[in-house]
Amino acid sequence: MTRRFQIKPLPDILGAEITGLDLSTPLPEADFLEIRKALADRQVLVFRDQEKLTPDEQIAFSRRFGPLDIHIQHHFHLGGHPEILIVSNVIEDGKPIGLVDAGKYWHSDLSYMAEPSLGSLLHSKEWPANGGDTIFVNMVAAYEALPEGVRRRIDPLKAEHSYGARNRKQQALNGALRPGLTAEQEARVPPVIHPVVRLHPESGKRALFVSEGFTTRIVGLEEKESDELLAFLFHFSTSELFQYRHRWQPHDMVFWDNRQTLHLATGCPPELRRTLYRTTVRGEVPLAATAA
Ligand code: SIN
Repeated sequence: MTRRFQIKPLPDILGAEITGLDLSTPLPEADFLEIRKALADRQVLVFRDQEKLTPDEQIAFSRRFGPLDIHIQHHFHLGGHPEILIVSNVIEDGKPIGLVDAGKYWHSDLSYMAEPSLGSLLHSKEWPANGGDTIFVNMVAAYEALPEGVRRRIDPLKAEHSYGARNRKQQALNGALRPGLTAEQEARVPPVIHPVVRLHPESGKRALFVSEGFTTRIVGLEEKESDELLAFLFHFSTSELFQYRHRWQPHDMVFWDNRQTLHLATGCPPELRRTLYRTTVRGEVPLAATAA
């Protein structure tokens, strides 16, 4: 059967552009399976021209890939749609309408959960004339480019990820624009431990799974050694060699695989408006590259 839409790999080390597909109508199973395969292969999918896509339709498409997570920052859920987190730099009546500093550090979404995210979908609603790009890195390529001795050393290691630690850093930087967590919210996101190198459940490939955003320490190492190793891995994995820079176009929807990428929001000039709706698909407990 001929496909109704086009999947074109981008020239970078990750990413593919998908055109001719209207996500506002339900996808036949064969198309859905092609999209899922393309996500595992190319890690970031850029769906162009999703002008008609409503929040309900974004939720329905996202749910084809798994249950959706409800973000802990409930102040910034879209009204009536708690599955959608508003990412925005817009301030109305002195209050942010969304998470203003979402992702301004390298991270994999929800790596601080016991079951981190499979992937996230971001639909652009307001886009600035310049700025506001999102950069992604290929963490399989980063792992494979490490010297063999480093790979052997890190394969069996585990690391801690913490949302509370990150939220406190963002509060120190952004004050009132970044709400603190209540005791109840804090209790829902205790620090968790994950493998430093994880196996992708579909491709079987090894990917680095640490980020400056949420990884706080390597389990079992002295603080200095842990800090030095993490600093090295953060720097190495975010090299330009492994990057795709997404320059948002009107009505783009971007879907990325959090199991094998990190991303960074580069920031938007404050006088320009940028708003996106995010859905986040829950994944599974990460598989370690080596038996414990
Ligand atoms: C995020 O990390 O979900 C936000 C990314 C962006 O705003 O570019």
